[in-house]
Amino acid sequence: MEELLKQWDGEEVIIRYDKPSGAWIIIAIHNTRLGTATGGTRMKSYSDLKAAVQDALKLAEGMSFKYAVANFPRGGGKAVIHVPNDFDEQKRPELLKRYGSLVCQLGGLFETGPDVGTSPDDMDIIAETGDPYIFCRTPAKGGAGDSGPATAFGVYNGILAVCEHLFDQASLEKKRILVQGGGSVGGHLIDLLIEAGATVMFSDIDDQTVRLLRDKKGLTFIHPDKIFDTPCDIFAPCALGGILNKNSIPRLKCLAVAGGANNQLAESADAERLWGRQILYAPDYAINIGGAMAIIGIETMGWSKQKADKNVSSVRQTLTQIFETAKAEGINTDAAARRIARKRLFGNHGEK
Ligand code: PHE
Repeated sequence: MEELLKQWDGEEVIIRYDKPSGAWIIIAIHNTRLGTATGGTRMKSYSDLKAAVQDALKLAEGMSFKYAVANFPRGGGKAVIHVPNDFDEQKRPELLKRYGSLVCQLGGLFETGPDVGTSPDDMDIIAETGDPYIFCRTPAKGGAGDSGPATAFGVYNGILAVCEHLFDQASLEKKRILVQGGGSVGGHLIDLLIEAGATVMFSDIDDQTVRLLRDKKGLTFIHPDKIFDTPCDIFAPCALGGILNKNSIPRLKCLAVAGGANNQLAESADAERLWGRQILYAPDYAINIGGAMAIIGIETMGWSKQKADKNVSSVRQTLTQIFETAKAEGINTDAAARRIARKRLFGNHGEK
């Protein structure tokens, strides 16, 4: 754990043990050069505290790059609530309220919204004590609600950039797109893709989602074991991270990877592995900013829904710039995106 923290290039980490629930709260502030550290609150149980801290550090860094590459005035941060395996859900509201107090105590150092394992309903509870630092409360409580649809809209625009780059045409007509995860982002993305004429396949581990998408919407279901072996034009990961790794990449049968999940690469070498296989990778932090951008814009910058859509659609230009930089410089797309972001984050030419 010491090594982990020493090697991290972020600003600070706050760790609190919440005795009544047995949960650990970790808030990682990565880089505030461009603005207030802002990121989701992820709630789940990890194998141990170190794994939870590691995830928080990596996710916070991802947020810094996310805002920087899009030139959006916010800083990178993320919270993880590592709950015990046998967590008693009845303790959830009180835990969330204590978490809200902690965020409030920080006095604006960190602002947060939902992430894996938390929802706008949870944000309502956190805001009882954490106001005014909480995004995505439900509309009934004065918030802008779920960020999933806006994230999906950004990913959709990113996929347009991918098609333009690969096929010289920003059209999804008849393109075979495999979406991993039909949840809050994947589910909305699927709707947008179908509307644009794509042939959509999906995979999910949740029975209810499978029933909805396969039986009610008539989409082709791909068994989770077959996800990396299924031929398609674009693979869109919209579930958990770490799925692009040295085992899965050699199996991929797609031309591009472009999806909404955070931290899709298990390690940075995986970007080079994809590049080596000539698979066009849309860096996750560049393509998935839509939710955070739209919500922050609507809740703090007075954006209308139209203005939010217009700004989120800039994901398309951002990705085009990344793809062009990669091509011109002969570097992989992740390296190209980091180069653009690092200049803004560290004020130099891509060196840390
Ligand atoms: N889960 C969002 C993300 O990773 C976090 C977020 C949502 C932050 C809404 C701010 C507002 O981008």
